[in-house]
Amino acid sequence: MAGTFIGIGVGPGDPELITIKAVKALKAADVICVPKSHANRPSMALSMVKQILAEREKPAEILELVFPMTKDDLNNRKLWVENAAIVAEKAKKGNVAFITLGDPMLYSTFLYLYECVKETYPKIELEIIPGVTSVTAAAASSKLPLAEKEEVVSIIPSDLDPARIEETAKHADNLVFMKCAFHIKEFLPILLKAGFTENSTIALVKRCTLPEEKVLVGKLGDVDSWDITEDYFSVAIVKKSPVPIHWKQNGNGGKQ
Ligand SMILES: C[S@@+](CC[C@H](N)C(=O)[O-])C[C@H]1O[C@@H](n2cnc3c(N)ncnc32)[C@H](O)[C@@H]1O
Repeated sequence: MAGTFIGIGVGPGDPELITIKAVKALKAADVICVPKSHANRPSMALSMVKQILAEREKPAEILELVFPMTKDDLNNRKLWVENAAIVAEKAKKGNVAFITLGDPMLYSTFLYLYECVKETYPKIELEIIPGVTSVTAAAASSKLPLAEKEEVVSIIPSDLDPARIEETAKHADNLVFMKCAFHIKEFLPILLKAGFTENSTIALVKRCTLPEEKVLVGKLGDVDSWDITEDYFSVAIVKKSPVPIHWKQNGNGGKQ
């Protein structure tokens, strides 16, 4: 009888944003897989669940799985197959959890491994525990609604082809840029061509819900003068509508 492979969303950073269901699963799993982009780099997801794991009566086996961030599909596929075999071996003896930042179903390494396990080892039960995404966390931190009434919101990976960014922007009221959203200055001309204006609203949220969180809110036209430092953990929300009144009164006008 094979165990279950469980994808667990651990939220955007603040350990208090981990769901009760995720905590229960983390305390019960026999093995906890920790995805890493580099063997020597610490895992943010693991640091977020450290306290929960410390409260366990019997420690879990921590299994680090390395998934380098590359666009080499062939090599990536080889890694997923290898890692799926490791998961399958561990699942013979118990439940295997895989922690992922935010939600497992949104731009997560878990998805590829999940597909690979599903295809190759059909006897393994699969479960997914959702998490608070960086998208909703960034909206909360910047106090900007993602969508209201009939508004359309689109999520864009920042390395998308500029023509597709423009096409998507034409059909949306609000946009969320993920994966290296600190490149936002480069998208300004595209957004202006797509119907956004200098008075549209923009928020750039770095390391949201973590102690070092930085939130910038202002007019799209002012972004060029913002001092934006490079940080993979950044999300930008761009709204066609002008900056809301509460931000005009209390906002930071682009200062961190
Ligand atoms: C591979 S995606 C993972 C998304 C994740 N599964 C989610 O649900 O939020 C990584 C991107 O998520 C965003 N991200 C994740 N955590 C973040 C945080 N605490 N603050 C800002 N952005 C974050 C960044 O855009 C980052 O480049």
